[in-house]
Amino acid sequence: MNMFRNAYGSVPVQPRLAWLFVWVLSGLLGLAGCALPTPGGDSLYHRLGDRPGVAQLSARLIDRTATDPRTRRSFEKTKLGPLKDSLADYLCKEADGGCPYEGETMANSHAELGIQAHEFDLMVAFLREELDAAGVAPADKNELLRRLTADRRDIVQAGTTRKAP
Ligand code: HEM
Repeated sequence: MNMFRNAYGSVPVQPRLAWLFVWVLSGLLGLAGCALPTPGGDSLYHRLGDRPGVAQLSARLIDRTATDPRTRRSFEKTKLGPLKDSLADYLCKEADGGCPYEGETMANSHAELGIQAHEFDLMVAFLREELDAAGVAPADKNELLRRLTADRRDIVQAGTTRKAP
């Protein structure tokens, strides 16, 4: 029997028991580590389906907006693949997924496009439909739309109120 000395005096400790204690403790800490939230953990991003979810949303939204006759004019000179990737990063960041977004600000990236209010509203309507099609819960859908449309003033050319054709 060994004696283990601490601030409170000496206590008898079986060496094997001490090792067992250390082993169990490290196992418990490991389990706790697994339970810690990973980036994006219980976030809006996670509820959107993590990377596969936002990548699909981004791709479907760009495909629709870039082909619909009412919105496609802005995309004529744009490479859609990189735009889909950049939008997916942006959606991840906005939904608290922790992704680095390396693109331009909303004001800079749309500055030359002269986007009209009705084009913006159509894109938001497409996104709403794609979120429904993906089975995203109404509260999560509305939260994402709220966050994205906060930048409306930066994206829509000032003073445009023309109605959709
Ligand atoms: C909530 C609305 C919108 C969001 C969140 C959004 C987001 C983005 C993002 C993240 C980029 C990439 C910027 C970069 O990589 O530097 C981008 C670029 C672009 N967006 Fe939007 N956008 C919105 C509305 C619109 C609308 C309404 C249109 C047109 C109908 C549009 C057309 C474009 C185009 C053409 C580009 C590429 C510009 C280029 O080639 O440099 N966006 N947008």
